[in-house]
Amino acid sequence: MSLNGKVALVTGGAQGIGRAVVHSLLQSSVKVTMVDLNKTCGEECKAQLDAEFGEGNCNFIACDVSDGEALRDAFQSTVNMFGQLDIVINNAGINNEKNWEKTIQVNLTSVIKGTYLAMEHMSKEYGKKGGIIINVSSMAAFLHSPHQPVYTATKHGVIGFTRAMAVRHTHRTLHASSSTDSCSIFRGTHTSLRFNS
Ligand SMILES: NC(=O)c1ccc[n+]([C@@H]2O[C@H](COP(=O)([O-])OP(=O)(O)OC[C@H]3O[C@@H](n4cnc5c(N)ncnc54)[C@H](O)[C@@H]3O)[C@@H](O)[C@H]2O)c1
Repeated sequence: MSLNGKVALVTGGAQGIGRAVVHSLLQSSVKVTMVDLNKTCGEECKAQLDAEFGEGNCNFIACDVSDGEALRDAFQSTVNMFGQLDIVINNAGINNEKNWEKTIQVNLTSVIKGTYLAMEHMSKEYGKKGGIIINVSSMAAFLHSPHQPVYTATKHGVIGFTRAMAVRHTHRTLHASSSTDSCSIFRGTHTSLRFNS
């Protein structure tokens, strides 16, 4: 898939791995929406990226991914601004065992919601032209992590959900596949879902 001219949405894009991914996509001439809870970081990041890549290539939307309606609006705003959507990277994640319900909401429920929203905007089932979804997991999904059981459960869930989606769409002959790879830019493990391409 040639990246030139594509449009991506990256959750948790203002810092850390998400920010590195946003930067890399812009280097490949992809237009990008960063969705992030942290408004200060997001606005600073956008200003730096505008200075480096020129205005109009990067968009920042302050949004808590665990707010389903706000996430839906972020997807729609991206399409309104850039005219299409081709790549969705559900990257936002936290590791808070005390507030474990929030950890499930952010790391798993929002990834599922983000995947379904991505399908609505990219899948041929919805009259669109296809795309790629990358759901960020962790090596915690493969190792026993006694100090972070809920985080581990969410990352297991991300891989299980994404693989099941890929199989489901393969069964519908929609040309889906999933892969679980170690990827240098993520430094951990992600699972990707390519469909209808
Ligand atoms: N850092 C690692 O070594 C590592 C390893 C394996 C997997 N991961 C996974 O990679 C992803 C990114 O991790 P990171 O290390 O870059 O984290 P980070 O904390 O550096 O950055 C996460 C970003 O997500 C944003 N965010 C947090 N909660 C949010 C919410 N509710 N809504 C919107 N944005 C929110 C934060 O503001 C931040 O900008 C996570 O899913 C994490 O579990 C990280």
